[in-house]
Amino acid sequence: MKIFFASSEVAPFIKTGGLADVAGSLPPALAAKPGNDVRVILPLYSGISDTWRSQMTFVKYFYFHLGWRSCYCGLFQLERNNVTYYFVDNETYFKRNGLYGHFDDGERYAYFSKAVVEIPAQIGWSPDIIHCNDWQTALIPLYLREAKKGVPELSGTKTVYTIHNIEYQGRYGNSILSDVFGLDYNTYFNESMLSFYNDVNLMKGAIYASDFVTTVSPNYAKELSYAFYAHGLEGVIAENQHKIRGILNGIDVDGFNAEKDTKIPANFSSTDFAGKAKCKEELQKQLGLNVDPDVAIIGGISRLVSHKGFDLVVNAFDRIMEHNVQFVILGTGEYGFEEFFRNAQARYPGRVSANITYSAPLSSAIYAGADLFLMPSIAEPCGLSQMIAMRYGTVPIVRLTGGLKDSVPAYEPEEDTGLGFTFGNINAEDMLDAVDRALAAYADKDVWAGLMKRGMEADFSWNKSAEEYMDIYRSILE
Ligand code: GLC
Repeated sequence: MKIFFASSEVAPFIKTGGLADVAGSLPPALAAKPGNDVRVILPLYSGISDTWRSQMTFVKYFYFHLGWRSCYCGLFQLERNNVTYYFVDNETYFKRNGLYGHFDDGERYAYFSKAVVEIPAQIGWSPDIIHCNDWQTALIPLYLREAKKGVPELSGTKTVYTIHNIEYQGRYGNSILSDVFGLDYNTYFNESMLSFYNDVNLMKGAIYASDFVTTVSPNYAKELSYAFYAHGLEGVIAENQHKIRGILNGIDVDGFNAEKDTKIPANFSSTDFAGKAKCKEELQKQLGLNVDPDVAIIGGISRLVSHKGFDLVVNAFDRIMEHNVQFVILGTGEYGFEEFFRNAQARYPGRVSANITYSAPLSSAIYAGADLFLMPSIAEPCGLSQMIAMRYGTVPIVRLTGGLKDSVPAYEPEEDTGLGFTFGNINAEDMLDAVDRALAAYADKDVWAGLMKRGMEADFSWNKSAEEYMDIYRSILE
């Protein structure tokens, strides 16, 4: 099967969030299945390093039209893990600081989406499936409809659209439709396409125009029926329910492997945790925390924003700190939360470490060195950090939402089963109760060893989920 996977970010080339991790790890898992030809496409941002650029080869360049604009399109390629990666070069759109948040994002990603549909004819390749992700590539299924009218390479091509986060839909004033997108008003500005309260909504258009829609966990797929989670698209979801399914993301289990990871101070396994104690000690030293093997370290790596649940953390913080714990946070976000954690570090010397930054090495150190990992998200379509934490024997405390519910079965003291500590309501008291239960379990060495072992041995690979995507691809190609 020929699969063309389009994403606005792909690890390890360029990353702002979990979308990049999925775009970096699902395609190689699909490529590992016999008979698949998997190619991934992303923009060539200025943020992509020279190390990667030096491994690319130039394929060709051509021009195409986006509305009335004639646009340059350069194409580079690189092979890795049996996947071909294409990079779309246009400096007008992608020679910028950062990825998103520019005044013309609608135009930039319309350009990228149109390029994805133009490229098959340019390289003489007929994909069976174009797999699109989030609002940035949401116009692809619409451009494909147009292209099918004249491009033989695309006559049999079907589309799958994956929602990684429904909060970001790509909403613009309707004048963008023909002027910038070059789409016909009568065909595309209606309730079963792009129109949304007299605006254009890209995610809505993709949900209608795609052959199949997935989201990143079965539980989030259910949550999307509710207005609280669907951010205005609950009606659209209801109408398209017949072609929507939740598939739990996997992670790169070879990359996140406590036994082999060279980025952590010591390796360890589910049957020998000695190295983990070393990782904990190194983390405490590195961050200026009191070095103490018995204190429980609670870690958090997240954007510091409300919907990740930080209001609950602020509310309960001093009561959490009444226990024998240390608290380590890594991330940036809303100023109020950043200040809160900076202050907390000053108020609890040797016990709180606020790292208001993004750092891959420090995130590895926290995953490996912490005992508990806190994720009280209000909404979490899948969440990958909780799975990564478990790979390193760090036990998650999560709110039962989205993929957190699917990936962290609650610890059951009677049966001695489960992988973490959970709470349901968006309420600081309930979160605190889960923290208390976790710390009681931490105090019991056998119980804790069982939790760590089960988490490290749980299957978070792509094996099962990649096969589910294959089933969907097959079903729409029939
Ligand atoms: C988004 C979601 C996150 C999910 C990721 C990958 O970042 O917020 O929950 O894990 O996409 O699908």
